[in-house]
Amino acid sequence: MEIRPMTDHTGAEVRGIDLARPVPPEAKDALNRAFIERSVLVIRDQSLRPQEVLAAVELFGRVFQQHNTKFALPDCPQIHYLSNQDRYPDGRRYIPGEGWHTDHSNDTRPPKATVLHAVSLPDRGGDTQFANTAAAYSALPATMQERIAGLMAIHVYQSSHSTRQLIGLPETAKERVPNAVLHPMVRTHPESARKSIYINPIRIEGIRGMDHKEALPLLGDLLVHATAERFQYRHAWKPGDLVMWDNRCLLHKANGDYDMEQTRYLYRVMLQGDVPR
Ligand code: SIN
Repeated sequence: MEIRPMTDHTGAEVRGIDLARPVPPEAKDALNRAFIERSVLVIRDQSLRPQEVLAAVELFGRVFQQHNTKFALPDCPQIHYLSNQDRYPDGRRYIPGEGWHTDHSNDTRPPKATVLHAVSLPDRGGDTQFANTAAAYSALPATMQERIAGLMAIHVYQSSHSTRQLIGLPETAKERVPNAVLHPMVRTHPESARKSIYINPIRIEGIRGMDHKEALPLLGDLLVHATAERFQYRHAWKPGDLVMWDNRCLLHKANGDYDMEQTRYLYRVMLQGDVPR
């Protein structure tokens, strides 16, 4: 197995391993180390059925129950799909993951990682962008680091301030998804101990104890800073890719910039995380 960095701060490409076969303990340790150090793992040349994806991700942790069961695979509901062929109830096309976000931050224990495995890809476009919010936090002026220390953001399923609209939860899923949770805007990674900016424009309704007039511009400024190109790794998908990222220290977004006559379809699974601190 070969592991190669992809930018100077984010991303590692992994070749020479077949996740459908047993992975030796040294390789498992190396993959987990690379995941913590590089935040995005791009494991090339995989061809995994849903049950094999589930078995493979056990190398990294426990599966997290995703919120919107509408996207669960009938035969393997812990795996959801992402597809450009779904539509909003009013008929508009739904592109999952458009707009910067971190996954399921409206959970009390949001997923530490998300894993996608490409099943069908457009000929070009449909990249996933990642922004390293630990690097972005380190680059903040000390005055801003002090200003946001201790601030708690209110996360909900769908922020009323978000320009991106999510597909609503089925009634059965609503019962298990919290109405609102509070998370620190600066979180410390439980494994690397690095601090990162933890914000989510799709889910954050406000900042505890702060007027929207102050909170929304602050969140906007932090988002612009955190997603600057110098903190990004942009993933151009190849057939066979399995990509896993760390939601604790990254924002990410999908791009719906390709020929919609072509299908973009990926399996998605998440891994259980901790209470952000
Ligand atoms: C997501 O936000 O989970 C989807 C990312 C993608 O489809 O590229």
